[in-house]
Amino acid sequence: MDSYSFKITGGKPLKGHVNVSGSKNAVLGILAASMMIDGTCTLENVPDISDVHVMVKICESIGAKIETSLSPDGSVTLQIDPRGINTYEATGAGVSKIRASYYLLGALLGRCGKASLRMPGGCDFGQRPIDLHLKAFRQMGARGADYRNLNGGIISLHADPLRGAKIFLDIVSVGATINVMLAAAKAQGKTTIVNAAKEPHIVDVANFLNAMGARIKGAGTDTINIVGVPSLPGNFTYSIIPDQIETGTYMIAAAVTGGDVTIHNIIPTHMDPLSSKMREMGYIIEEGDDFLRVYKDPEEEIWGTNVKTAPYPGFPTDLQPQTVVLLCLSQGQSKMDEDVWENRYQYVPELSRMGANISIFGHFALINGIDKFNAAQVRATDLRAGAALVCAALAADGTSYIDEARRIDRGYEKIVDKLKSLGADIEVTESTGYFVDKEA
Ligand code: EPZ
Repeated sequence: MDSYSFKITGGKPLKGHVNVSGSKNAVLGILAASMMIDGTCTLENVPDISDVHVMVKICESIGAKIETSLSPDGSVTLQIDPRGINTYEATGAGVSKIRASYYLLGALLGRCGKASLRMPGGCDFGQRPIDLHLKAFRQMGARGADYRNLNGGIISLHADPLRGAKIFLDIVSVGATINVMLAAAKAQGKTTIVNAAKEPHIVDVANFLNAMGARIKGAGTDTINIVGVPSLPGNFTYSIIPDQIETGTYMIAAAVTGGDVTIHNIIPTHMDPLSSKMREMGYIIEEGDDFLRVYKDPEEEIWGTNVKTAPYPGFPTDLQPQTVVLLCLSQGQSKMDEDVWENRYQYVPELSRMGANISIFGHFALINGIDKFNAAQVRATDLRAGAALVCAALAADGTSYIDEARRIDRGYEKIVDKLKSLGADIEVTESTGYFVDKEA
């Protein structure tokens, strides 16, 4: 089924234990990085999500061999052999389905000094430029595409050779940080990235590159140093870190349903920005080495608060929609300040259909607390918006339908099974057709 919906009958507290999968935003950069290996590698704890399926197909389209197998714990393992890569062009339709395909620019420039790529796709939050990527590649000696003129959507670059440079990112960018690390891994000389992004997935990509044989230091800080090497032998096994955003989504789903859920296979410190806000609101978050438990004291009132999104270790923008749902079900007035993306409130009209009381002023959302959401027919406008609507539907009394649910499956492995295991009444159904002809 291409277009399908989630049918959710809410009002039941989520209870029990759930395991988090590997990080979407780490594995997509790591898959691109693996295309630079002069040998093979094995990737473990790969999330079984559609963005990974798309990225694997793109890698296979340029000649890589990727075999998928299931580990005893049910997680996906990939055997990757990029030695058959026979082109520097990735211009197939799949490239425009996801944003992360642009990591192949850095990977192919690093591998063969050339890259030609169709403009990437991804969630629509308004402007999603790639000028920082192209300016950085130009500083490293790449010529061709100019961010001011993207030549009908195909980005072609060549560098002979790619040289290390000092790259100052005037905006903290996850994608540009990863793309420069990829290109710099095999560039001649040293590259320094100043004002680098510090997200957990940046560190994971850097650790993977070092396992490949790269020489990267400082990932996780705002200055990353990369000394280029002539080859990346590979021949190793690597396990993807747990998904910070999936973890936060289950924390919020547990909270808004008044449940008691323990979330396993995580790195609790990655959740600090959300955990501290939820504790401030009145929720109880207990932490272990690789798990945390979310519940609340039935006598405790939950109060709203103010949240501002920012690059890590600030509050993750990818938890902004889900957190607005949490703030809707709290006392008083709350404020969300979306400071990373120019237009990431497109889900608000859908939430309003469920009874939310939210006013948008530019990048601010003013949220007035309500007692309950009403069940409704809504549409997932993008991946995290869809996740937010799932949380709202789980909290609402009655049956909701969420159209375009395939957008949610882009980034959440087995979300229906995982929620069912926590007691949720959720199933996949045909699209309600309620939003016919809406833009895809
Ligand atoms: C990554 O997108 C994530 N996607 C996004 O997650 C996430 O929202 C974002 O980082 C911020 O954390 C993947 O990792 C696949 P950016 P990316 O470059 O790399 C501006 C999800 O839900 N910018 O850090 O595209 C940009 O407009 C997705 O999993 C430029 O101006 O984000 C934005 O305002 C959604 N020029 C800011 O920087 C550029 O060349 C941060 O963007 C690049 C970015």
